[in-house]
Amino acid sequence: MNALPHPYRSGLFAPVEGELDTEVALEVIEGEVPRDLFGDFVRNGSNPRFEPRGRYHWFDGDGMVHRVRFENGQARYLRKYVRTEGFDAETAAGEALWGSSTERPDFTRKGAPFKNTANTDVTFHNGKLLALWWLSGEVYALDPHSLATLGREEFGAGLKSISAHPKVCPRTGELLYFDYQARGDFLSTGLVSPEGKVTHHTVVPLDGPRLQHDMAFTENHVLLFDMSMQWDAEELKKGRTKVGLRRGQPARIGVLRRGAPGETIRWFDANAFYMYHVIGAYEEGATIRLVGCRIENPVADPHAEESVPTIGFLRLEPRLHEWVMDLETGAVRERGLDDALGEFPRMDDRFGGVKFRYAAMPNIARGEPSLLFDGVDVHDLERASKSSHRYGEGRFGSELVFAPRHAEGDEFDGWLVTFVVARAREDAEAWVYDAKAVERGPVVKLRIPARVPIGFHADWVPGWKLPVRA
Ligand SMILES: [Fe+2]
Repeated sequence: MNALPHPYRSGLFAPVEGELDTEVALEVIEGEVPRDLFGDFVRNGSNPRFEPRGRYHWFDGDGMVHRVRFENGQARYLRKYVRTEGFDAETAAGEALWGSSTERPDFTRKGAPFKNTANTDVTFHNGKLLALWWLSGEVYALDPHSLATLGREEFGAGLKSISAHPKVCPRTGELLYFDYQARGDFLSTGLVSPEGKVTHHTVVPLDGPRLQHDMAFTENHVLLFDMSMQWDAEELKKGRTKVGLRRGQPARIGVLRRGAPGETIRWFDANAFYMYHVIGAYEEGATIRLVGCRIENPVADPHAEESVPTIGFLRLEPRLHEWVMDLETGAVRERGLDDALGEFPRMDDRFGGVKFRYAAMPNIARGEPSLLFDGVDVHDLERASKSSHRYGEGRFGSELVFAPRHAEGDEFDGWLVTFVVARAREDAEAWVYDAKAVERGPVVKLRIPARVPIGFHADWVPGWKLPVRA
């Protein structure tokens, strides 16, 4: 397919041509692949195949998973499409069958007003990669070795839909998920056992549809949100999706005991906000501390002369922020932790749900029309300090994920891995940092002999968790 001059189908966002049948060994540009770096860096993203029907948006392309596998001081690269039902239907038709997820939804279309591209997130659980979609939809399981799509994953219970950004609890091995809809049950949440079976599912009462994006968890609770940016319920009744800001009212953070009925959720009022991504949460005495990327005003004013990056009407001015919920008094204390704009944050997932100290946050490039990351900040939340590295002029990275050196060990003892791409180049790079010394620059840069379009979310699969090859 020829790259078109559409901003999300050209340049850094242009799709890469086709899949790879076999892995490609990567050439070292500089440095050395650490011998104890063992596992897979996987990243999902949008890779359109056909001319769009009407409008096109970055969020609309078919899901494609890119992987770099590190083992014995070597690195190999593979990429495959996520073969969703929509993907197969368009393959058979030889053309796009759906319009953009940013256009008016066709609710008369049986079960699928939008195409679920499963292009947003990828999470490893129960020996499989799960490809997930930001608007909530069917989950697609991929073989972690071949990246072949195994089919829809319904977790033994006919679970038809979950959102991107479920969490894997490192202590229980459970998958904690949420689901949200514009119609019907606005919000639900549940648990999947380490063996991949739903053990709990409950609807959380909300008085209207909300645009959700992420969740959090602690040892005993899940955290869900009722935030200030939400769908307009009256417009939805007319078949239109319109997102507005609920001004002058608090946003709410919901705390629900794991496995408890949704109606027992306890809501805590916070200053109005929207948040795409959580970093983590944990319990401390009679409080729960939540850290994430808070956006005070998520809806762009089309008439304002603003310098903040936007995606369509969404204003991207996220800053590191903490909320502390007091379980005894119901009060919330909150404060900003840094002025820098950052998104797609990640922590050391071995510390998911318990007290954590470090977070890796890609820094949002200023002066760009869309969401691009020009470097990484590693925050030390205990010392309220950060160390940083910038990729260099005209270079942009993806979400960084943390790769532990060993299954056990100190927090952030390991590596941070990301893709880095440059304008007007037909190749890409994979960079690896020492997670506790990013300011020194990457310990290795590897050349990928193909473009890796700017994409969405990533995950790390420790080599010791990969299933034995069939
Ligand atoms: Fe996301």
